[in-house]
Amino acid sequence: MSTRQLTRAALFAVAAVALAGCAAFAPRPDYDALTAQMMKSSFRDQGIAKVDRLQQDAANAECSKAEGKPLPDDLARALQDAALKTVKMPGDGRFIGDWREGEKLAQNGRGMTWTDASAATTANGGNCYNCHQIDPKEISYGTIGPSLYQYGKNRGVADVNAPTARPILEYTWTKLYNAKAYNACSGMPRFGHAGLLDEKQMRDLMALILDPQSPVNR
Ligand code: HEC
Repeated sequence: MSTRQLTRAALFAVAAVALAGCAAFAPRPDYDALTAQMMKSSFRDQGIAKVDRLQQDAANAECSKAEGKPLPDDLARALQDAALKTVKMPGDGRFIGDWREGEKLAQNGRGMTWTDASAATTANGGNCYNCHQIDPKEISYGTIGPSLYQYGKNRGVADVNAPTARPILEYTWTKLYNAKAYNACSGMPRFGHAGLLDEKQMRDLMALILDPQSPVNR
């Protein structure tokens, strides 16, 4: 090696040690605080879309903290129990509506954006297709959630009014109302709890996945 090359090599070595030193001794940035700051400066209230949507409730906060790892059993159970308490069964005791209306809702991802005049004038869609397969005729669907094709049939629902169907009706209603009741860190929107869908809409979606006449179960 020439002197010049040697000098260069030495300089690189010094730089490498200095960099390694920085990485070892610099305090780890507070990524949570930085993220919160970035979110706060990137979003603003507009129309019906308000920045308070970024505030996490207890379940969301615990699940973010766990970073995808399972929660301790006790904590998961406590959050699920709290979620279960929020669930309201349908006022008139009817769980099943019109699957045709449910089908439209399942394929409709509209609602909740600042261009929607108001939550009162723009009914939200259910957006189910974005995460679930519903019907084999769909052009596209997401796979974040399990396929709902044959949901009722696979669970033996031949008659939605039969007493034997009752437990699966209650389970499914609860799942739609507040998915965290059975899975603390569920990624499914809490349609009833968050006021995204009303009882009639939920009944129509129940019909879509449970009624033996619906294309989901034929
Ligand atoms: C953002 C994604 C997402 C959307 C939108 C969504 N789901 Fe889900 N859903 C999930 C995930 C993930 C699961 C599985 C994990 C769990 O149970 O929480 C699930 C589970 C379910 C289950 C339970 C399945 C079982 O076998 O027990 C039902 C029923 C269901 N979803 C129905 C619906 C309906 C109806 C809609 C539309 C109104 C919908 N979901 C919208 C993500 C979603």
